[in-house]
Amino acid sequence: MSQYERGEHSIVESYKNMRTSLIINKNIKTILVTSSDMDEGKTTVTSSLAKCFSELEDKKVLLIDCDLRKPSIHRQFKLDNEKGLIDVIIEGNFKEYIKNNGKLDILTTGKKTKKPAELLESDLMKNFIEEVKEYYDYIFIDSPPVSRVNDACIIAKYIDGTIIVSSSNEVDIDLAKLTKKRLSKVNANLIGIILNKFKEEDNIYHNYYGYYEEDKKPSRFKFKLKRR
Ligand SMILES: Nc1ncnc2c1ncn2[C@@H]1O[C@H](COP(=O)(O)OP(=O)(O)O)[C@@H](O)[C@H]1O
Ligand SMILES: [Mg+2]
Repeated sequence: MSQYERGEHSIVESYKNMRTSLIINKNIKTILVTSSDMDEGKTTVTSSLAKCFSELEDKKVLLIDCDLRKPSIHRQFKLDNEKGLIDVIIEGNFKEYIKNNGKLDILTTGKKTKKPAELLESDLMKNFIEEVKEYYDYIFIDSPPVSRVNDACIIAKYIDGTIIVSSSNEVDIDLAKLTKKRLSKVNANLIGIILNKFKEEDNIYHNYYGYYEEDKKPSRFKFKLKRR
């Protein structure tokens, strides 16, 4: 179950506000969620955003686990992970591998691959994303942390918008800068930052916001997501 479903009123409202901000931009259909490091809340946020969007009556939403190194979407929604994205990239026929959670469609990773970066970089993967865009209104993608591996930067190249999740207590400013630099280098379209695990008394992160505001490509939204 996602944080959105378990969450208290303020958390649910935060996700709905993010949804409203994202919907405004009609050109954004595929959304990558990443972060600087592990445990900042990528999987939590991606699952919740996807679930929140899937509640829109007239919208079809797909959640894809592209963290091929540390898959976890299947755990969030208690699904098996025997088959998934890796099989789809190689064999095609994505509809056979889709699982469901209510109205939300989910594609888990499938069994591990020794070459995650090569698979994500392949034309097969890019073609698959183009194909699913015809079937879904929104596609949310979970990914590994940018400071550890290059996978999210690879995905960002063929995705409409990238959101960075930053854990407010744990984030290392140098890693955050590195993340921004790496994503900018591949021309990722940075559409927002989510300050996760935020405590009301943590005001020191105003500088961190400033860092993003300085950029010529401003974040279209910034959100604070409280600790549960
Ligand atoms: N806003 C939050 N408040 C409290 N705990 C959170 C919050 N967001 C994530 N977590 C917890 O932090 C841990 C890491 O989250 P996860 O989404 O798996 O991170 P990542 O995918 O970036 O590695 C999990 O135990 C998750 O339940
Ligand atoms: Mg994760």
